[in-house]
Amino acid sequence: GHDINKLLAQTGDTTYDQGFSSTASCKSAITFIDGDAGVLQYRGYSIEQLAEKSSFLETAYLVIYGELPTAEQLATFEDRITKNMIIDERMRDFFRCFPRRSHPMPVLAAGIMGLSTFNSETTGLDNDSVEEATTRLLAKVPTLAAYGYKNSIGKPTLYPDHSLNYIENFERMSFGNPAEPYQIDDKITRALEVLLILHADHEQNCSTSTVRLVGSSQANLYASVASGVNALSGPLHGGANQEVLEMLQQIKDSGMSVQEFVDKVKNKESGIKLMGFGHRIYKNYDPRANIIKKHADEVLKLKEGRRDLLDIAQELEQTALNDDYFQSRKLYPNVDFYSGLIYEAMGFPVNMFTVLFAIGRLPGWIAQWREQNNDKSTKIGRPRQVYVGQTHRDFVPLEQR
Ligand code: ACO
Repeated sequence: GHDINKLLAQTGDTTYDQGFSSTASCKSAITFIDGDAGVLQYRGYSIEQLAEKSSFLETAYLVIYGELPTAEQLATFEDRITKNMIIDERMRDFFRCFPRRSHPMPVLAAGIMGLSTFNSETTGLDNDSVEEATTRLLAKVPTLAAYGYKNSIGKPTLYPDHSLNYIENFERMSFGNPAEPYQIDDKITRALEVLLILHADHEQNCSTSTVRLVGSSQANLYASVASGVNALSGPLHGGANQEVLEMLQQIKDSGMSVQEFVDKVKNKESGIKLMGFGHRIYKNYDPRANIIKKHADEVLKLKEGRRDLLDIAQELEQTALNDDYFQSRKLYPNVDFYSGLIYEAMGFPVNMFTVLFAIGRLPGWIAQWREQNNDKSTKIGRPRQVYVGQTHRDFVPLEQR
């Protein structure tokens, strides 16, 4: 009932842009997206080439430092990270304080704040502190994630193993058992690595904008990244991959046909969305979804995953892509449509999916925070509003209300 133009006229040069769909909040040289053409590039390199040829730590280096590393730079970087994967012994105890079966996402967010207390000498904004905090976060977040997972299933934690690489270490700490050696499967490790590469950055999405906004107050890297984890936890952002799997399972359990489900989604009154479809920026296709789709097929062949759910997902995709409702609104599968199926085939429960997304997005959050921290013209983020409440009322004493 409010006339926005009239209200805006009262607030000077403020523009009203709900959801910030047409407001650039910063200048950035990290990630380029052309949503109409389905293009995603980190520092100018296409996501397709990086997914095929790069490793996760190499991509992290590229995203954070701006250039692909030389062989020597990469070796030094990998060594520094894998040596730092261990966490303080008292932080290991920290996990015991959470209830058994705690969701690993809030445990990860709390763990990152815990890290900031155990690494308080690296919470400054100067280059040396930021460099050290970058190493420690990249190194220790997978360890925190694996320990949060072990806590959620009531199993003992494992120390990281220097002889393994970053991804292998995370797999072993998640699935390994202290009593026996852990068997690494190269194809599974590569699929996980590709998924993490695909998630490494995505310019000013909700969690990254959160990291920047928190960082704009000169809050340190740990505090800003922990805020990013919390922003990512919502179902409309990182939580969507969990919802996709639950949706597929519901379709299966209900016995309804895929067409019946799609019809339900199209009836707005049902309030049901086709999870894993639609994107604020990609209005043609999500290039990450195309890459993931190929891996879903591979991994589900290798591991006795949920072939039944993959079949439903593929039928759902085809049905929606041929439907006028989805075509006219330019709704296509996004990165989350197939990622959950792969994670599940690897052995992760649904409540770990968003944690995996967080491990992948970490280099992006760090790079964006550093880019902002290096820009001396940065101002504290402080959006305006259009006030629609009461004005000019006299206080009414309690006994007269
Ligand atoms: N299922 C059914 N209808 C949809 C869907 C969907 N998944 N997504 C959008 N629509 C409809 C909307 O109802 C709206 O219809 P209308 O014009 O008739 O009102 C129209 O398409 C436009 O959608 P908006 O919600 O305005 O698009 P917006 O850019 O705000 O939202 C979002 C994007 C949040 C991703 C949305 O598509 C959605 O909720 N998708 C499902 C959740 C999901 O998969 N999220 C993951 C995103 S990717 C990521 O975070 C990595």
